[in-house]
Amino acid sequence: MLNSIETKSLSKSFGDVTAVDDISFAVKSGEIFGFLGPNGAGKSTTMMILTTLLKPTSGHAFVSGYDVVTQAKQVRQNIGYVQQETTVDEYLTGRENLLLQARLNHISKDQINKRIDEVLDLIELSDKQNDSVVTYSGGMRKRLDIAGGLLHHPKVLFLDEPTVGLDIQTRRKIWEYIKKIHIEFEMSIFLTTHYMEEADQLCDRIGIIDYGKIQVIDTPQNMKSAMGNEVITLSIQNSNSHGSFVSELNKIETINKINEDNGKLILFASKVTEAIPKIFKISSNLDIKINSISLKQPTLDDVFISYTGHEIRDDDSVFNRKREHAKMKRLRA
Ligand SMILES: Nc1ncnc2c1ncn2[C@@H]1O[C@H](COP(=O)(O)OP(=O)(O)O)[C@@H](O)[C@H]1O
Ligand SMILES: [Mg+2]
Repeated sequence: MLNSIETKSLSKSFGDVTAVDDISFAVKSGEIFGFLGPNGAGKSTTMMILTTLLKPTSGHAFVSGYDVVTQAKQVRQNIGYVQQETTVDEYLTGRENLLLQARLNHISKDQINKRIDEVLDLIELSDKQNDSVVTYSGGMRKRLDIAGGLLHHPKVLFLDEPTVGLDIQTRRKIWEYIKKIHIEFEMSIFLTTHYMEEADQLCDRIGIIDYGKIQVIDTPQNMKSAMGNEVITLSIQNSNSHGSFVSELNKIETINKINEDNGKLILFASKVTEAIPKIFKISSNLDIKINSISLKQPTLDDVFISYTGHEIRDDDSVFNRKREHAKMKRLRA
């Protein structure tokens, strides 16, 4: 099969909130595909539709070739789903948790112990398997959760924000486990994240999702190179000529795109050595003072800003997002 996930004009509304808004995309067989987007973007809702836990309001979705609405049972047999919040029972041991999970997944009795040993080995928890989970660190709990999702050898693994709330060292370790599992099980992985670095490190392709809509789908590399070769960040003094400054900058041929964020101008340029003298010339002509200028290679953060017009922020409150969401809807209407 060519595609392990396919959606066609998939939408989901909760009252007047359109959480998922006419999404069409495909995840190729064997691929690690990620949804990158801020809180409230519609990532978990999409995942819950694909894992048959929510019904779409309209549109279609197929996982492993099965329709998530009319063939939900077949879909469930082919997938593993690791939720954002850990679901392990603290008062059981690691192994007991997996035993419970194996029974829930109807793994045959003669296979259970073999499968548990296999996943414990894979995520390197064998020597802690008989300790109760209450003694586990956050990272170990997450690994145990992931192990539980692998017991029945799913063809497609769903990971909803697999490293949220973990410190950076632990997150890096979890990334290594995810890469290892992906190779070992030869499966497709669909994950969601609001960490740029995570998407960059893990995904073959990324879909940037914001306000329930996919803004772009591409490889991390293509996204970054599509932005031009380098990013120039300019901080300038307030001035009445701000508008003319930006429109003059836009005329510089090697500047491909200009964004404004938090009072800073972010320029994506292909030949910075040619662009910079021109920038200074324009600023002096318009009598605009440049407070600072910095240069760097584009990151996925820059890509995100360029497609959505704002930064991904960790502390985005749901309240603010909802207000913005309502505003966007009015603007679109
Ligand atoms: N059960 C629900 N009832 C009402 N609104 C919901 C429900 N689940 C999600 N939403 C809303 O849908 C939007 C998308 O949420 P979600 O898919 O959880 O986003 P993400 O996982 O990207 O953070 C948000 O505005 C959220 O408040
Ligand atoms: Mg979520």
